[in-house]
Amino acid sequence: MEIEKPSILIVEDNRKLANLFQEALEERFKTMIAHSLSDARKHLKWAQGILLDLQLPDGEGISLIKPSKALNPDCAILVVTAYGTVQKAVESIRLGASDFLEKPVDLNLLPAKFEKLIVSNLPSEELVYSSDSMGQLVHMANKVAKTPFPVLISGETGSGKDVLARYIHKKSGKEGFVALNCASIPSELADSMLFGHLKGSFTGASESRRGLVAAADKGTLFLDEIGDLPQSLQPKLLRFLDSGAFTPLGSCKEERSSARIIAATNRDLKSMVEDGSFREDLYFRLATFPLQIPPLRNRLEDVECLVAHHLMVLKKVLGHPVEIDASAIRLLKAYDFPGNVRELFNILDRAAVLGMGKISSEDIKFLMVHTISQGQEKANESDFWSESRAEAERREKEMILEALAASGGNKAAAARALKVSYKTLLNKMKRLGI
Ligand SMILES: Nc1ncnc2c1ncn2[C@@H]1O[C@H](COP(=O)(O)OP(=O)(O)OP(=O)(O)O)[C@@H](O)[C@H]1O
Ligand SMILES: [Mg+2]
Repeated sequence: MEIEKPSILIVEDNRKLANLFQEALEERFKTMIAHSLSDARKHLKWAQGILLDLQLPDGEGISLIKPSKALNPDCAILVVTAYGTVQKAVESIRLGASDFLEKPVDLNLLPAKFEKLIVSNLPSEELVYSSDSMGQLVHMANKVAKTPFPVLISGETGSGKDVLARYIHKKSGKEGFVALNCASIPSELADSMLFGHLKGSFTGASESRRGLVAAADKGTLFLDEIGDLPQSLQPKLLRFLDSGAFTPLGSCKEERSSARIIAATNRDLKSMVEDGSFREDLYFRLATFPLQIPPLRNRLEDVECLVAHHLMVLKKVLGHPVEIDASAIRLLKAYDFPGNVRELFNILDRAAVLGMGKISSEDIKFLMVHTISQGQEKANESDFWSESRAEAERREKEMILEALAASGGNKAAAARALKVSYKTLLNKMKRLGI
C-alpha cells in the first residue's frame, strides 16, 4: 500500500528557481509547476498546498489566495517574498496564506515546512483529552474565552498550543483568527507587519498597509513563539494590550483595534524576564491568564483517546480504516513522548503505513528502533524505550559520521546528504558529542 502524496502547486515564473523548488519537494509531494497566474488558476482545485511567488508576469500572486481558499479552504499557501515585497506578506496572511518565506529560500527546510502546514490545515483541529489535568485547563480556557483579556499559552513543543489557541478562538465567538509566528518575522519589518505603515514611511513602503493587529479587529490575533518577538516591539505591544490603541509606522494618528491577543511560547518567559530579554511588564500583562499545557508524559491517560482520534483522521487521509492492537497501545502508554502529541501522531502515521492498516506492537517497536528522534531528550524508565533510544542514537551517530567522511568533513554537504538542515545537523552533532 502506498500513501497518496499530497499535491503542491509551485507558482514561480523563474524557471530555474521553479525547478529547484520542485527538486526539493518531489520526494515527499506530487508537484506541478505553473509559470503564470493564468496557468496556476487551472490547477487550483488540484492543489493541497501552493508555493506562491508574489511577482508573476501576468499579475500579482496574491490574487490567487482568495480563489484558491474558496475552492479548497484547507489549502496550505506558502508565500515566497523577495526583498521589497515582504510587506505584502502581511496582506497574504490576512487573505488566508498560512505562512511566508523570504528569498533566498532554504530548500532543505521547504518539505518539512509544507508537511507541517498541510497537516495543520487538515480539519482535525479538535481538542481531544480525557485526563483531569487537561479537563481543568479546558475549563479555564472556556471561562476566559469569552473575555477580551489576553491569554498566554505555554507548553513543550508539540503539546497542543496551536490547537488550544484555535479552541479558545472558536469558543470566543469572535470573528477572524489571524496567526503570526513571531520567530519568522524579520525584525526590521516586524513593526509594519503588526501595526501597519503609511506610504513612504520607510524605503520600499510604496503603499500604505494595514498590519495584522488591524486585520484581526473583532477577532483573535495569535502570536506564536512570543518569546521571539523583537525586543524593540515589546513596548508597542504592551501599549496595545493596555489601551487597544496603536500608531502605524509613519503615522501620527492613533488607531484602535479590538483584536484579542493569544500568545504562545515553548520558552521559559520567566527566565527571559530574569535575563532581561523579555519585558517584565509585558510578561505580566500577557500572563493575566496563563494556561500551561502539561507534557503528554504527565497525562498518559490521554494517549488512548488521542490515538482513537488520530486513527479517524488517518482513515480520511488514507481512504481506508486503520486499527491498532491493545498491546501496541500499552507500549505507547509506557513511552515518555519528548515530542508530545506531535510525536505520537508521527509514530501512528508511520505505523499505519508499515502495518498496512493494522498497527501492532511489533510495528511500534520497529519504528522506535528505526526512528531518529527529533525531540528533546528525557530520562526514560522503561527499558524497552531507553534501549530503542540508545539504538537510534547509535545509528544516528553512525550515519552522521559516514556522511561527514563522505563529504570530506564539509558539514553543509553532509547535511544535504542526510536531508536535514544545517542547523539540525549542528544540533545533532552537539547532542551526540561528535
Ligand atoms: N489535545 C489535542 N487533541 C488533538 N490533537 C492534538 C492535541 N494536542 C496536540 N494535537 C496535535 O498535535 C500536533 C501538534 O500540536 P500543536 O501544533 O498544537 O503543538 P504546539 O504546542 O503548537 O507545538 P510547537 O511548539 O511546535 O508549535 C498537531 O497535529 C495537533 O493537531
Ligand atoms: Mg505551535
